[in-house]
Amino acid sequence: MVSDSLAVNSLGHLTCGGADCVELAKEFGTPLYVFDEGLIRRTCRDFKRSIDEYYDGNGQVLYASKAFACKEIYRIISSEGLGADVVSAGEIYTALAAGFDPANLFFHGNNKTPEEIEYAIKNGVGRIVVDNMTELDTIETLAKENDEKVRVILRIKPGIDAHTHNFIRTGQIDSKFGFALENGEAMEAAEKTAKYENLVLMGFHCHIGSQIFTTEPFKAAARVMIGFMDEFRQNTGIVVPELNLGGGFGVKYLDSDGQLPFEVFMQEVSSTMKEKAASLDYPMPRIYIEPGRAIVGPAGLTLYTVGCVKTIENIRTYVSVDGGMSDNPRYALYQSDYDIIVANKAGQKKNYTATVAGKCCESGDLIQEHAPMQRPEVGDILAVMTTGAYNYSMASNYNRIPRPMAVMVREGEPRVIIRRETFEDLIRNDL
Ligand code: LLP
Repeated sequence: MVSDSLAVNSLGHLTCGGADCVELAKEFGTPLYVFDEGLIRRTCRDFKRSIDEYYDGNGQVLYASKAFACKEIYRIISSEGLGADVVSAGEIYTALAAGFDPANLFFHGNNKTPEEIEYAIKNGVGRIVVDNMTELDTIETLAKENDEKVRVILRIKPGIDAHTHNFIRTGQIDSKFGFALENGEAMEAAEKTAKYENLVLMGFHCHIGSQIFTTEPFKAAARVMIGFMDEFRQNTGIVVPELNLGGGFGVKYLDSDGQLPFEVFMQEVSSTMKEKAASLDYPMPRIYIEPGRAIVGPAGLTLYTVGCVKTIENIRTYVSVDGGMSDNPRYALYQSDYDIIVANKAGQKKNYTATVAGKCCESGDLIQEHAPMQRPEVGDILAVMTTGAYNYSMASNYNRIPRPMAVMVREGEPRVIIRRETFEDLIRNDL
């Protein structure tokens, strides 16, 4: 099984967080996003513990809420003592509506609007992670107007190319995110920030990409960033206290994916940072990491009902389900891998290969091609694993398909955390 959430019960049914997936489908309908609260909490604790053990507790875990944002996840994350990375006024609004402490929010984004920046300032968001010069000037102006001192972190492109999908790698110079090191832009921005009256420069941030399985790019980024902090100290005499290394920790989508334990990341990155800081005689900065996928991805799965099975001789079999790219666009976007299990036959061998297709009106609406699974039949409940991250958050109403419901399972007991959209919801904004 690709995730600790999963098991097979005595009926041969797939379970998630101890709840029978076939029963969940019966009770709540499909498509259905299912989350295991226990695994989410255990993962939060693993990340926290790794900072305590290997970095003397001098840091904080920020949940990258773009992976899955709704009121309940902000409540869970905050009760575990994590902060959160937010990337829009909408995410800030949702976090605040859930009672999240704004001081623990880090506001990211490469094109925050002045309205969003003002909203963040007025609501006391903990840090604004500045992306570019225009934004830097806007934050200073708005901070002054609102008579606030705003704590900022500058996003730097450390020039590290993490070898992941093109759309989700961000550390290289050709990226829309952040200030470049190579051309002096990052230093110029840092020096400018230090002179601004209403800004407090807390440190620097980098995020090299997502779904990364090796520690080397993180270590390389840490070395570059501490080197930059030291250079900034030499130029200005200022020692900034914080370094945010972003997220991107890879998770298992298939059994063959070699996911590293998070503590290995932390252990190796910490010792690299300690070495580098010692070599430059630089005080150890407070560290932040921003896992999104790792916290919610493996804790979620999606249940569908099989509506038809179409075998095209010598070509392939299509299994069509009652959702698709409207609730999971990741195969269409990134050809991402997924493990598929027929939930009501989970105890049986996977002796069949089929392509899982959605119900949207286009041929690219596939969830997985040529995937091993138990023999699927009409009416079966098909489960797609590891859909906790970037599925609900990237869902759409394409073809006017209502977004599915989400349930959170705690010790085998499900509760609805996001209602299923209705037709009324679909026309709510239509005039
Ligand atoms: N911090 C920053 C600044 C980020 O941009 C991201 C992700 C994260 C943290 C969290 O990365 P994670 O730990 O989740 O890998 N939609 C794509 C992923 C886009 C990631 C965007 N930024 C997908 O479905 O794979």
